[in-house]
Amino acid sequence: MRGVVYDGNDYQVIDDLTVKEPGPGEVTVRIEAAGLCHSDLSVISGTIPFPTPVVLGHEGAGVVEAVGPSVTSVKEGDHVVLSTLGNCGSCEHCDAGRPTMCRSTFGSRPQPFTWRGEPAYSFANASVFSERTVVKANQAVPIPKDVPFAAASLVGCGVLTGVGAVLQRARVPAGASVLVIGVGGIGLNVIQGAALAGASRIVAVDTNPRKAEIARQFGATDFVASTEAVRDVAKRGVDFAFECVGQVKLIRAAIDLLDWGGTCVMLGVPESTAEASFNVASMYLDKGVLGCRYGSSQPQRDVRRYVDLYRRGRLKLDELVSASYPLADMKTAVHDLEAGELAARAVLTF
Ligand SMILES: NC(=O)c1ccc[n+]([C@@H]2O[C@H](COP(=O)([O-])OP(=O)(O)OC[C@H]3O[C@@H](n4cnc5c(N)ncnc54)[C@H](O)[C@@H]3O)[C@@H](O)[C@H]2O)c1
Ligand SMILES: [Zn+2]
Ligand SMILES: [Zn+2]
Repeated sequence: MRGVVYDGNDYQVIDDLTVKEPGPGEVTVRIEAAGLCHSDLSVISGTIPFPTPVVLGHEGAGVVEAVGPSVTSVKEGDHVVLSTLGNCGSCEHCDAGRPTMCRSTFGSRPQPFTWRGEPAYSFANASVFSERTVVKANQAVPIPKDVPFAAASLVGCGVLTGVGAVLQRARVPAGASVLVIGVGGIGLNVIQGAALAGASRIVAVDTNPRKAEIARQFGATDFVASTEAVRDVAKRGVDFAFECVGQVKLIRAAIDLLDWGGTCVMLGVPESTAEASFNVASMYLDKGVLGCRYGSSQPQRDVRRYVDLYRRGRLKLDELVSASYPLADMKTAVHDLEAGELAARAVLTF
């Protein structure tokens, strides 16, 4: 079957990939659509170190094709959004509704694929840039069949991460002021999450002027081209600042732009050795900095919730799909994303 493999030097669309049969508690999903998140590019650039060969992609939706022994949560033919967690379900964090903190979800590194005689890793336990993937059954969250796959695929990372960061991690209250740095797939979902939360002011920052229109469409009240211009529209600073690019200088800017009592949420992922700094005295005014993994989400609950909001017209998913590309045109999609030509996400179709 076809898939996108990164071998440590370059990535390529190949057609000699195989995936194992689902074992106990696992399912095979035929992928119908997959979003191109910056984290996939970060594996290729080395920003996110990952063993190779690895099958890329972690934001996808498709159809359950086969279930392994003992799987009861989904059945053949179900439409599903894939989550990247595959948490154990029985540790103290799973028990407390914090699956992103389940120790078994990080560094487990499954190798369900074979490529040219060698086992190949699954990226983020998902590998959705492949015609088929095998995941834990609790990673396949069923959705109604009338939801288009392209829209559904983006829930798997961008929406869970961005909207979740606002509602679950920061718990932005109605009336708060919000700053969003970086208007990509993640930033747009922070913007629409903040709008859902009832934020009074949503200032979006992106160096790409093409992002202004879509930022406003998703709920931004202001758009500026650099963090230096934020105080022109938010004199006192903001209650919440979300860094959605992955640069330490922008994390610093986000902290410097907090109003008294403000909170910075770091969503972007810089290189794994990056260190950031802040002025300690400035933090004295009840300010805080939060990390955030995958929107601190509970995929089984949140995928259903967000898809429901979408069907009621309260969450934008179709508008997140800026362009669709057949899997074979992966390199064109990457080029268009890196060249800043896309307002929101590139979606690969199968
Ligand atoms: N914390 C998590 O769980 C999680 C999940 C998914 C993605 N991420 C990370 O979030 C980040 C964003 O991902 P994405 O898919 O939205 O990327 P993207 O490529 O779609 O968007 C990035 C945006 O940042 C803008 N930008 C670049 N430099 C800028 C600057 N100096 N100032 C303002 N804007 C700037 C770009 O123009 C673009 O619009 C990445 O680092 C990704 O790895 C984190
Ligand atoms: Zn992602
Ligand atoms: Zn667990």
